[in-house]
Amino acid sequence: MRSPKDFFRPLAVGAPEPVREVPFRPSRMIHFFDPGNPRMAAKVPGLVPDVDVLLGNLEDGVPADRKEAARDGLVGIARGTDFGETQLWTRINSLDSPWALDDLRTLVTEIGDTLDVIMVPKVEGAEDIHYLDRLVAQLEAKARVARPILLHAILETPRGVANVEEIAGASPRMQGISLGPADLAASRRMKTTRVGGGHPGYLVREDPGADGVAGARAVFQQDLWHYTIARMVDACAAHGILPYYGPFGDIQDTVACEDQFRNAFLLGCVGAWSLHPVQIGIAKKVFSPSPADVAWARRAIAAMGDGTGAVMLDGKMQDDATVKQCRVVVELAEALAARDPELRAAYAAGGEGAE
Ligand code: GLV
Ligand code: MG
Repeated sequence: MRSPKDFFRPLAVGAPEPVREVPFRPSRMIHFFDPGNPRMAAKVPGLVPDVDVLLGNLEDGVPADRKEAARDGLVGIARGTDFGETQLWTRINSLDSPWALDDLRTLVTEIGDTLDVIMVPKVEGAEDIHYLDRLVAQLEAKARVARPILLHAILETPRGVANVEEIAGASPRMQGISLGPADLAASRRMKTTRVGGGHPGYLVREDPGADGVAGARAVFQQDLWHYTIARMVDACAAHGILPYYGPFGDIQDTVACEDQFRNAFLLGCVGAWSLHPVQIGIAKKVFSPSPADVAWARRAIAAMGDGTGAVMLDGKMQDDATVKQCRVVVELAEALAARDPELRAAYAAGGEGAE
């Protein structure tokens, strides 16, 4: 067991001090691109003003014979782009692949000062994070990286889900966790063939009415991902790190994508992946509290004075617990608005009909 007092000591001589809190930076959408694809790479500078996070993907989706081109492409993009306030992340290859070690060595030593977060696929337990923690510290020390690079785990194996709490708390480097519904479905032997989203077969049916079991009965589709997201949110919140919905693969179905993102937002997630530019706007809308909700939350906070006791507002009871919920909404809104003048104006104008 590591003593708690050693937890915040660098794991290599000369590596930067670990962070004590995950710094709040907007990350409503983690926009994936293939850095080895020159057409996509050329679009990166144009995307910078529109996205919170740009992620150079080296793992699934990049063919085996283009892994090195993707890695080298990311180094070039990181060196040649002004990212401003936008974060640069990467998704490295999985730890059991032949590429992960070279991904880490190249990226940390060559662009360690530009890279904010390393996303790690198929994390199974705290041991994967411990391995990375030390290795990244050694590489940071070697390259004299000034601030620690954070780690983000993808939850996409049954063992990872079983160990999600220990993964979340494995290192001060842990920034967050994303649901990886495609790999998770495969490794759990779920009988779906999609990337995220619901399934029409996963439903509950209304009880029989007067016409018996053959009569018309409403069906209600259920959310395949509810259990996993809820578990992930609790693990992240308990350890002060951030939970995310992962990918939604049906690019055409912007309506269902928005629904899935919103469910995740309401349950506590702060963002989702965008796999296509059409999903950037969806994530920005969903993961920014609505002006109406912010206006309501501000009203409730003002009405509650020192935050204790109870008041009625439009027939709804407010007390210490509702004021805490309202503060979550207002704090998120203010943190996002601090970097987004449009959002700031929308929140200043308020909104109608919140709850
Ligand atoms: C993402 O990597 C997924 O497997 O869904
Ligand atoms: Mg995956």
